[in-house]
Amino acid sequence: MEKLNGLKRTHYCGDLREANIGEEVVLMGWVQKKRNLGGLVFVDLRDIKGICQIVFDTEVSKEAFEKAEKLGSEYVIAIKGKVFERQSKNPNIPTGNIEVFANQIKVLNKSETPPIYIKDDDEVSENLRLKYRYLDLRKPSMQKNLILRHKVSNIVRNYLSENNFLEIETPFLTKPTPEGARDYLVPSRVNEGKFYALPQSPQLFKQLLMVSGMDRYFQIVKCFRDEDLRADRQPEFTQIDCEMSFVEIDDVIDIMEKMLQRIFKETLNVDISLPFPRMPYKEAMERYGSDKPDIRFGFELKNISEIVKECDFKVFSSTVENGGSVRGINVKGYADKFTRKNITSLEEYVKTYGAKGLAWMKVTNEGVTSPIAKFFGEEKLNQILDRMDAKEGDLLLFVADKDKVVFDSLGNLRNEVAKRLEILDKNEFKLLWVTEFPLFEYDEEEDRYVAMHHPFTSPMDEDIEKLDSDKENVRAKAYDIVLNGFEIGGGSIRIYNEEIQKKMFKALGFSEEEAYDKFGFLLDAFKYGTPPHGGIAFGFDRLIMLLAGEDNIRQVIAFPKTQNASCPMTNAPAIADEKQLEELNIKLDLSE
Ligand code: AMO
Ligand code: AMP
Repeated sequence: MEKLNGLKRTHYCGDLREANIGEEVVLMGWVQKKRNLGGLVFVDLRDIKGICQIVFDTEVSKEAFEKAEKLGSEYVIAIKGKVFERQSKNPNIPTGNIEVFANQIKVLNKSETPPIYIKDDDEVSENLRLKYRYLDLRKPSMQKNLILRHKVSNIVRNYLSENNFLEIETPFLTKPTPEGARDYLVPSRVNEGKFYALPQSPQLFKQLLMVSGMDRYFQIVKCFRDEDLRADRQPEFTQIDCEMSFVEIDDVIDIMEKMLQRIFKETLNVDISLPFPRMPYKEAMERYGSDKPDIRFGFELKNISEIVKECDFKVFSSTVENGGSVRGINVKGYADKFTRKNITSLEEYVKTYGAKGLAWMKVTNEGVTSPIAKFFGEEKLNQILDRMDAKEGDLLLFVADKDKVVFDSLGNLRNEVAKRLEILDKNEFKLLWVTEFPLFEYDEEEDRYVAMHHPFTSPMDEDIEKLDSDKENVRAKAYDIVLNGFEIGGGSIRIYNEEIQKKMFKALGFSEEEAYDKFGFLLDAFKYGTPPHGGIAFGFDRLIMLLAGEDNIRQVIAFPKTQNASCPMTNAPAIADEKQLEELNIKLDLSE
C-alpha cells in the first residue's frame, strides 16, 4: 500500500468539466469499474461528487499502466494526470465530455470483493444492505439523500436563526414525556432500581424554556419511541422541534409555512404558494377518511347512509340502524382497470382495516354491474349514483360499518387504489394543515378518554365549557401539517392557565397527585409567570423522504433500524454482560 506522502487532491472526480481541459489534476477515490483494452486501461473513478473516466496508456506511463492493470473493484487510489476532451463522449454523466490521462497512480488501499454491488439498481435484500451499510452508503443515490438531508438542516438552522429562534439542547436521560408511545428505559447504576426514560420528544423541556424567557427555541433532535414500526416510522427518529412565546395558531403556522416554502425552493427549486390550505379534522375525516389526506387526487368519500337506511341489502340497512354508516368512494373513470379479481384483492385489503367486506358497482354503457344492485329499486339505485356523482366508466366501492372502521378502510383504500393505478406524481407536492383536532380520544382498552395530542394542548376557547360535559366535542388548538398523505409535523398552542390545566387533568382522569407525580416540575414552573406559547415538531426524516422521492425513511437515515428495531450491522440490541447487569442490580428472568 502506498501513502499520500504530501500528495494533495486538486479536484473532486465528479466536478471536472470541459473547462478543465488541459489542466494537470490529482484525483482520489474508489475504483467503480476497470476495463482493460490491451494497451489501454480505463477506470471509472468515484468520489462523493461523481464519477470520472481515467485512462492509463502505456505511452503515457508504462509504470502507471501496469499498476492499473492490477486494480480491483473498490480499490482506493490517487491519480495524477491531464484532462483531455473525450473521444467517445458519454452524455449520461456530467463528466462525460472529458477524461483524464494518468501519468501517476498510488494504490492507497485494496478491497475485498464487496458483498453488495455499489450501484443504485442493485436488487439485493435490504437486510444485506443494512448489514453492509457503509458500502450501501457509497451508492450515489444514498449519498444524494444524505447530502439533501444536510442541506435541509442547514436551511432550517439559518431560517430559524434569522427569525430569532435559539438552538438549545435538552436532555436524553430524562423522565417519561407525554407523547403516549412506549418509552425506552435506561437503568441508572448510581440510583439503584431507578430508570431514565429516553425522550419521545423534548416537549416538556421546550415549554420550560418558554417559562425561562428564551422566547423562541428550536432543536434538530433525536426522539425515541418504542412503537410498531412502519415505512415511515423508526424507533429513533429526528424532529425539527420548535416552540415560540406570545403566539397564537396563525403565528406558528405563518412562520412554519415560510420555512417549508424556503426548503422546497432551495432544494428542489419548487415554488409552493402561501398560505397552505387548512381543513378542520372533521372535514378531513368526512371527505378523505383520514386526518392526513393525500389531496393530490379525488376519490373522496360520500355518505349514502340516509339513502340505504331502508333497503333490502341487510348489510347496509342494519349497519345504519345500529348507528354505523355506509360510505363509498368513486374511482372515477377507472372501472375498466379493475377486474373482479382486482376487486377481490381490494376487499382483502380493506379487511386488514377491519371492514367486513367491500361492496362495489361498475357503471357501464349497459347500466350498473354489481352483485348488490338487485337489492335496491331503480329509484334508490339512482339516488346512490347521484350521490356518488357516478357516470359511465366509474367504479364505486362501499364499506358499511361503524364510522371508525369505514373511515379507516376507505381512507386507506383511496390511497391504495391511487397507488395501484399509478396516478401519484412524486414531483407534485400538496401541503395541507389539518386543524381543530379533537382534544380527547376514547381509549377502548383503558376505557377512558386520553389526550389525542398531549395533556398540555389547549382546548379551543369556545369549547372550554364542554370539558366536563361533552368531551367528545371539545376541539384542540392543535394542527398537523400533511404532505402528500404523510403527517410531516404536528403541534399545538399550549395551556398556560393553571385552572384550565387542572380541568384538563381532571378530564383525563388524573388525580392531582398523579399529575404532580408525572409532570410536577412543569406544573410548578407554570406558577411563576408563563407566557402564552405554542409550537410544532416536524418529522425530519419523513420530510426528507418526501423531498427525496423515497418511499421509506430508512432511505434517508444513515444507520436505520429494521422492522424489528434491530441493526444488522452492529447487531444491536445485544445481550448485556453479566457484570454490567450486576452493577445495575438487574436480574433477567427469561423463563417465559
Ligand atoms: P408528534 O408526536 O406529532 O408531536 O411528532 C411530531 C412529528 O414527528 C414525526 N414522527 C415520527 N417520525 C418517524 N418515526 C416515528 N416513530 C415518528 N413519530 C413521530 C411525525 C410527527 O408529525 N411534542 C410534539 C410536538 C409539539 O406539540 O410541538 C410531538 O412530538 O412526522
Ligand atoms: P354477502 O351477502 O355477505 O355475500 O356480501 C355481498 C357483497 O357485499 C360482497 O361483495 C361483500 O364484500 C359485500 N359486503 C359484505 N359486508 C360488507 C360491509 N360491511 N360493507 C361493505 N360491503 C360488504
